[in-house]
Amino acid sequence: MKQRSLKILLLILLALAEVVAVVRICFHESIPQGLSQNEQVRIILERSDCLVCHSQDPELPFYSKFPVIGKMMDAHVRAGSRFIDLEAELAETGQISESAMNKLDHAVRYSTMPKHSYRMVHWSSGLNREEKAFLSSWIAEKRGSAEPVWPLADAVDYDAAIAGLGERLFNNAQLSLDGSISCATCHVLEDGGADHADERVSEGIYGLTGNVNSPTVYNAEYNVRQFWNGRAADLQEQAEGPITNPVEMGDQSLEQVVERLHKDKELVQEFKTLYPGEGLTGRTLCHAIAEFERTLITPDSPFDLYLKGDLDALSKLEKKGYDEFKENACADCHFGAALGGRSFEYLDIYGDYFSDRDPAIEYTSDDDGLKGFTLKEEDLHKFKVPLLRNISLTAPYFHDGSIQTLDDAVRAMAKYELGKKLSDSEVEAIVAFLHTLTGKNPHLQI
Ligand code: HEC
Ligand code: HEC
Ligand code: HEC
Repeated sequence: MKQRSLKILLLILLALAEVVAVVRICFHESIPQGLSQNEQVRIILERSDCLVCHSQDPELPFYSKFPVIGKMMDAHVRAGSRFIDLEAELAETGQISESAMNKLDHAVRYSTMPKHSYRMVHWSSGLNREEKAFLSSWIAEKRGSAEPVWPLADAVDYDAAIAGLGERLFNNAQLSLDGSISCATCHVLEDGGADHADERVSEGIYGLTGNVNSPTVYNAEYNVRQFWNGRAADLQEQAEGPITNPVEMGDQSLEQVVERLHKDKELVQEFKTLYPGEGLTGRTLCHAIAEFERTLITPDSPFDLYLKGDLDALSKLEKKGYDEFKENACADCHFGAALGGRSFEYLDIYGDYFSDRDPAIEYTSDDDGLKGFTLKEEDLHKFKVPLLRNISLTAPYFHDGSIQTLDDAVRAMAKYELGKKLSDSEVEAIVAFLHTLTGKNPHLQI
């Protein structure tokens, strides 16, 4: 009985808080004019209390010290700051990043923030209609799109002769120490550009294995940086990685490979023609491979056709899946033309992914994520958000290849990134949508 009246009291308080908040935010002053848009955005976020939770050192109310409530709040504020640290972004650059802007879009579009349960403390938190409209149009303008995802380019600019050379290098096993492995061994172009589905991690030279799953090379050009932990800036820098990796292609240095390739007179001549003055060097080798990789885009998927106006290109279920994808904040991280690849995010916002993982998989430094590259403690367990183009072709999933099916990948995302459980019908729709992301490329045979 006592519990019931307590619940009712809480509900009344919540309702009251909601009313007061709605009234309060209506009285926010109008957005000051004569400032830069960035400054206007900052003012809106500050006066709406957004920074209270979205900072590393949040100001918490007195009752956050109470046992049960305190613990719940701690978890939420921790999640809030790990989801997006607005204060740090504004302090560092004075600008909101592409990735934060996209999340903001979601919060505005679906009125998710702040969480209702916090209205009781933050009476003035929340955005009024004018503020929401301002933020929406600011985001659409900066992003160049009202939607969080947009079609892939139909074509890219590239040098056909150099890309042709790059293609042969991509398939050339002489790039590996014992002549057994080419890039194409681990990035099977006919089949999604990643490893075979039965391989959790790639097998390299002498049957040695690494610790991570090979991502697709299709659309890799869209990645903000390369590798799960972002240690290569771009495709050209990336190409050096596998060649000089002891468990992938086995050489010690690019010079060693270049020396071996010099035995191939035809190849040397071709490099001389295409790179006058420089010829075959480590730099030109990686440049040619990267040029080929730039051709590996996959436009014209059913989803692209739909975005471009062919409303029948997706079934009802697939369209529902796209709506669910946006509404459930998947597009908060998987955004842009390739649905991801643009940012690094914690894999364990709501749950301890690594302690839940199959204990047969040993924890290695590759599981540290971005920290392995930046050496910053706060980057522990941040991984590059993978792009989702052609995702139905590239099982198994996640950096450790520990997840076999798309259904399970979607469920794990909801659990660890969003702290919620999706219904079977939501999962079904999202997976149906993910299947519409397979596009076209002359190398892809599906
Ligand atoms: C009292 C804490 C709190 C306040 C205040 C708060 N947030 Fe959040 N926010 C969270 C938490 C916790 C999450 C993690 C995601 C979740 O649980 O929904 C989050 C997630 C988000 C996200 C990503 C999820 C989404 O819906 O797209 C955005 C963007 C966001 N907040 C923006 C804001 C803005 C803008 C404000 C100010 C109007 C604000 N937040 C105020 C706690 C807060
Ligand atoms: C032995 C298997 C193997 C070989 C051979 C191999 N790769 Fe990879 N590739 C991987 C793995 C595994 C990763 C992920 C490594 C990481 O992120 O730490 C990767 C990552 C990449 C990425 C980054 C994609 C992304 O989303 O970050 C590109 C691009 C790539 N490889 C291209 C190449 C090229 C070009 C070659 C040949 C020069 C090559 N790979 C040879 C297994 C291989
Ligand atoms: C907070 C950011 C974030 C949100 C929200 C998010 N993801 Fe992810 N997603 C990631 C990261 C980071 C990874 C890589 C995890 C890893 O490899 O260990 C990932 C991986 C994936 C993968 C596997 C990709 C691959 O190549 O292995 C799929 C599929 C996926 N997400 C779908 C979704 C769906 C569907 C949703 C919504 C229910 C969602 N994600 C929400 C950040 C996010």
